[in-house]
Formats: sequence, structure tokens, C-alpha cells
Amino acid sequence: MRAPFITFEGGDGVGKSTQVKALASHLQEYGVPVLTTREPGGSPAGDKLRTLLVTGDVGAWTPRAEALLMYAARSENLTHTINPARARGEIVLCDRFADSTMAYQGVAGALGPEFVSSLYDLIVGDDGPDLTIVLDLGEAGALERAKQRNAKKRDATLQKEERLEGRFEEKGLAYQKAVRAAFLQLADEEPARICVIDASGSAAVVAERVRMAVMPLIEIWTAQTNSGDSQDG
Ligand code: TYD
Repeated sequence: MRAPFITFEGGDGVGKSTQVKALASHLQEYGVPVLTTREPGGSPAGDKLRTLLVTGDVGAWTPRAEALLMYAARSENLTHTINPARARGEIVLCDRFADSTMAYQGVAGALGPEFVSSLYDLIVGDDGPDLTIVLDLGEAGALERAKQRNAKKRDATLQKEERLEGRFEEKGLAYQKAVRAAFLQLADEEPARICVIDASGSAAVVAERVRMAVMPLIEIWTAQTNSGDSQDG
């Protein structure tokens, strides 16, 4: 049986990357193998696509082209990183996954959910996440965090690519609001998989909320793995 696959989602600037790292450290201390990855990215080819996607002019890609490139990167991430790690028994944590394409391109980018669902069926199929954490911050708060971060990235001392990494943040408040509404809607539609977590407060407080949501799944997995080991032995 494959190890659990857990994804982290949410608007720009909600603190996903910090929470992925915090959970990975917690799981390592708990004694389970864990692999972290991110999207777009997660494989050598996916990282090249990431550079194309997150840099440059705000209107550089149509939502349709964006969705296709996101799914090209996702296909590589599944094939080369996520699925092999799960098969080796490593719990996979992914910073963004398919719900981002649905929220950003499908709903906020007005591509429409059907196109994105078709890509999901073709590329992800049965390899999707067991659990998805949506970190939720009021949209104004999230955009504020994203802008502060972006200002740092535009620092002239940084590399050109790093400075431009805010292409999505440039899309503005209305877009961010639509993204947030889309994530909340997805959570309503799939309550068994998607757990919405309040991302306000300190990183430590949010990390505790994340652990409360994730640990039951990890405990079930470790219990099953251990009983499998004792049956084998
Ligand atoms: P990310 O590096 O996670 O940005 P942040 O830390 O600001 O949340 O993702 C980069 C951007 O790519 C982000 O604005 C969301 C966007 N994105 C999509 O539009 N569709 C997708 O399928 C994915 C994975 C990301």
C-alpha cells in the first residue's frame, strides 16, 4: 500500500511553505519517512516550467496555456517524484497541487472547471492526494503578506528571475478573492478530503492546527504498516 499523499493549498501569501516545512520536521521527529515537493516544480523539467510560469508579464499566458503547463509539470512531478516516493513508503507533502489549477485557472482565470477536471482525469487519475489542507486567511490579509514578500523579491540586489517571481500576485485583489472563494467551494464539495484551516495567528499556532488535522491519517498509516510488518515477519 502506498504512503499517504498530503497537499497544501491556499491563496498567495497564506504561509503554506512555512507550514509544509513545519509539518515535515514534525513527521521526521515522529519517526516516519517524509518527502516534500512543490508545484509548479518538483522535478528538473517541472522546475524549468516553473520559471516560465511564475516570471514575466502578468498576461504572459492565457489561463488555458497556464493550465496545460501546470499539468505538464504535475505529470513530471507525479512520475519522477511523488509516486516513486509513495511506493518507497515515504509520506509526500506537496506545496500546491491540482486544486490550485482548479482555483487559479479554472475558476478565477475563467477557464472553466470542465477543462481542468478533464486534465485531472487524464494526468492524475487515482494518484491524487488523500488529504488536502487549505490554509485560509481573509483575502485582504493574504494579499498584504504577498505584497510584502514581493517587495523583497523586487530588491535590485536579487537575481532577475527572483525579482519577477510575483506574476500571480500582480493579478490583484479581485483575482485573489476569486481564488479564495474557489478553494472554499472545493472544500464544501469534498469535505472528506479537504480540510480548511484558519491561517491567522503565529506560525506555531497554525502548525498545531495543521498537526491536529494530519496526525490521525499518519497514525492510521503507521498502524497499518506495522501490522503488515508483523504479519510478514
Ligand atoms: P507558489 O510558489 O506556491 O506561490 P505562493 O508561495 O505565493 O503561494 O505558486 C506560484 C504561483 O503559481 C501562485 O501564485 C499560484 C500559481 N499556481 C497556479 O496558478 N496554478 C497552479 O496549478 C499552481 C500549482 C500554482
